[in-house]
Amino acid sequence: MGRVVAIDGPSGAGKSTISRLLAKKLGFQFLDTGALYRAVALHLRRAGAGPDSTDSGISGKLKNISIDFKDGRVFLNEEDVSEAIRTTEAGHYASVFSARKAVRDFLFQIQKDAALHHDIVAEGRDMTTVVFPEAWVKIFLDASEEGRAWRRYLQLKEKGIETTMEEALRDVKERDLRDSKRDIAPLKRVDDAIYIDTTNLNLDEVIEIIFSHLKNRLAC
Ligand code: DC
Repeated sequence: MGRVVAIDGPSGAGKSTISRLLAKKLGFQFLDTGALYRAVALHLRRAGAGPDSTDSGISGKLKNISIDFKDGRVFLNEEDVSEAIRTTEAGHYASVFSARKAVRDFLFQIQKDAALHHDIVAEGRDMTTVVFPEAWVKIFLDASEEGRAWRRYLQLKEKGIETTMEEALRDVKERDLRDSKRDIAPLKRVDDAIYIDTTNLNLDEVIEIIFSHLKNRLAC
């Protein structure tokens, strides 16, 4: 088992960008678990599943599915879905299906296995609580609702996806409510996680704060 830096937080708190850069600086691999949930949701939608599907119906549709990361791109059954999983709709369904036990059970071992032979930085909603509760370092990244909506808006714009600030704010609010109120593996801040509010911080400042916490542990 490798060392795990487990990072949780609500959508738009900067988790992906920060985790990717942190992984690069530490020489660790990066595990974007949101991408796994998004790819599963895309697959389920294409297979005709919806919010009313039963758990056994969902499990059945998850047989023979493969998700791979190659050179920072995401492949669903060998199709490059890196762009398709980033739309607001894909995020919505990722949040909807991620509340389902069949989906969480399916992805649990895939996420655990990512740390079997590598040191990793893993980000998501239940990294510090369910998947890697014994992580080497735990971090909770937060930011104001408006700050997170603004980041989400810029990210989508950058990817050429049409959106408005109102839509981004609605998306962030809806998903956070669902992701933190669900019965299974809700987003939660654990006591032993380093808490960072990124609202008024740039990327370098956040990385600096994280490294100030890591200093002692890296020296061991
Ligand atoms: O981080 P993201 O926006 O790409 O995640 C998309 C959705 O996937 C998010 O709204 C909730 C779900 N998710 C989850 O339930 N658990 C994780 N570890 C990661 C994502």
